[in-house]
Amino acid sequence: MPPAAVWEGEASTMVYKPEIVVVSNPEELSLRAAQEFIWLAEESIREKGRFTAALSGGSTPRELYQLLADSRHKNRVAWERVNVFWSDERCVPPDHIKSNYRMVRELLLDHVPIPKGNIYRMPVEQKDHELNAREHARTIKTFFHLKDGGFPRFDFILLGMGDDGHTASLFPYTPALDDASGLVSANYVEKLGEYRLTMTIPLINHAANIVFLISGESKAAVLRDVIEGAYQPHRLPSQFICPENGRLLFLVDRTAASKLTGV
Ligand code: 6PG
Repeated sequence: MPPAAVWEGEASTMVYKPEIVVVSNPEELSLRAAQEFIWLAEESIREKGRFTAALSGGSTPRELYQLLADSRHKNRVAWERVNVFWSDERCVPPDHIKSNYRMVRELLLDHVPIPKGNIYRMPVEQKDHELNAREHARTIKTFFHLKDGGFPRFDFILLGMGDDGHTASLFPYTPALDDASGLVSANYVEKLGEYRLTMTIPLINHAANIVFLISGESKAAVLRDVIEGAYQPHRLPSQFICPENGRLLFLVDRTAASKLTGV
C-alpha cells in the first residue's frame, strides 16, 4: 500500500510501515539474507518454475553472495531456474573493478550452475548511457512479456542504502527520482561526477519482495531518518521504495538499527 498522498516537507512520516528484522551482527545478517533468497527462490520455482532476482552492488551484500556460492547453500537453489538482473550498475566495462556485474559474477555466478542465458547484465557498451538504459529496458520488457507502459513483477529485489539515503543508483535530488514511467534510467549523479544505470522507482515498487540489506554504525542515522523521520523522499530516496503489492523488508544488523526507536 503506497503511503498516503503526502507532500514533501510535511512533518508526517511514511504511512507505510515496512517489516524490520534486526539481527546481531554482519555475519548473521548475511546468513539471514541467504535464507531469504533461498526460501523465495524455492517458493517461486515451486509456484512458477522460475525465480527472478535483481541483485545489488556495494560492499554489504558481498558476504551474502559468497554464502550463496558456498557448498553448504548453493545446492539448495535450482540455479537453472534462476534469472539474475541488477538493480543498478556503474557505467564501466563489465571487467572493471567498480562493476557490480563483475562483483556478483566473481563472488557468486562463477560458482553456481546458472545458465549464462539467465544472467542479464546491464549493458554499458554504448557511449550514450541513455541507449544502454533503453536497451536494458527492452530486455526486461521482452523477458516479462510486458505491454507498453507495463512494469515487471520481480520475485526479489535486493537493495542497499547509502549513508545519504540513496538506494540502487537513485541518489538524492537526481533526475531518475522523477522517472515515473521508465524501467531503467541513465542517471547523472552530480556528487559522483558520473552516470549510473538504475532500475526506476516504479519498477522496484512493482516487485513481490523488496529487501534492504543494511549494516553498520555509519547507516544508523540515515536509517532512523528514512524509517522514522519526515517523508522527504527526494532528500532520502530510500523512502520512495514502497511496494504496490508486495513485501518490503529491512534486514539490518544491530549497529545499523541502533538509532531506531520503534524496534
Ligand atoms: C552500488 C549500490 C548502492 C549500494 C549503497 C550501499 O552500486 O553501490 O547499488 O546503492 O547498495 O551505496 O553500499 P554499501 O553496501 O557499500 O554500504
